[in-house]
Amino acid sequence: MKVLVIGAGNMGLTYAEGMAKSSMLNRRNLMIFDKSAEVLTTLSSIDHFDVFDKIEDCLPEADVVFLAVKPYHCDDLFSEIKPLVNQEQIFVSLMAGITINKIQHGLGVKKVVRSMPNLPAQVGKGVTSYTASEEVSRVELLMVRNLLDTTGESIKVKNENFIDASTGISGSGPAYVFYFMQSMLEAALKMGFSQHDSKVLVSQTFEGAVELFNQSDLSPNTWMERVASKGGTTRAALDSMEDNNVKELIKDAAYAAFDRAVELGKEE
Ligand SMILES: NC(=O)c1ccc[n+]([C@@H]2O[C@H](COP(=O)([O-])OP(=O)(O)OC[C@H]3O[C@@H](n4cnc5c(N)ncnc54)[C@H](OP(=O)(O)O)[C@@H]3O)[C@@H](O)[C@H]2O)c1
Repeated sequence: MKVLVIGAGNMGLTYAEGMAKSSMLNRRNLMIFDKSAEVLTTLSSIDHFDVFDKIEDCLPEADVVFLAVKPYHCDDLFSEIKPLVNQEQIFVSLMAGITINKIQHGLGVKKVVRSMPNLPAQVGKGVTSYTASEEVSRVELLMVRNLLDTTGESIKVKNENFIDASTGISGSGPAYVFYFMQSMLEAALKMGFSQHDSKVLVSQTFEGAVELFNQSDLSPNTWMERVASKGGTTRAALDSMEDNNVKELIKDAAYAAFDRAVELGKEE
């Protein structure tokens, strides 16, 4: 199997490096193409994959093609590469808001996987949701899944509506966690802790809580009850959050991202 990544920006490079570090592909079977001279210069110092500056030298050879350019560049990309594609190739899009139908029509192909990655893919802890056109076989989909999993974990969703929904949970989700972290950091600084100590207090608290959650079958609600004793400090904090409706506000925020993803898809 030969894989080509088109677009060597944040996401394209993250997936290329994930695949390169896995045992799935050797160097000769992983190709990367970008049109930016600056990006190509940087890539030339990386030895994990073959770098191309001409699409005609790499696309015809590829079995799986990752599309990792910004959504607003997709029309230009489609017209550039359409004459070089073939019907056996599988196109895996990382582009937010670009539908399977648009890719099939733009490229004149049938086999398309649409995915929604998230930022922690950069450290091998990403989660990618994906769905595919019916022309992608089970075996092909399994192969794509293995490629996506090189950056963390993946989940197959029923249809593209769930790709937009997962944008609201996992795609935009890291920013919600950072929002919570920032709030706790600001509280720690206000209480008089140094920058360094505030960072340690907050990051270890997040890491430890996630680890506890992952190593058990308990729900977050059960863990909250374990930390909070009646009349205690944690109960005071949780009561304050409940009184201020924080949980409902976070759900509203996730829906705002979901709705925006749907809207952006329509605009495209
Ligand atoms: N970053 C995230 O956290 C995230 C999360 C979810 C989904 N995504 C999706 O991932 C995709 C890539 O995002 P990104 O942040 O990695 O973008 P990026 O950093 O801008 O990288 C895209 C790269 O593709 C190049 N490019 C543009 N048009 C091209 C073409 N026709 N042929 C070859 N190369 C081309 C760009 O060059 P120029 O700079 O010269 O244009 C740039 O080097 C987007 O569609 C985005 O929706 C990103």
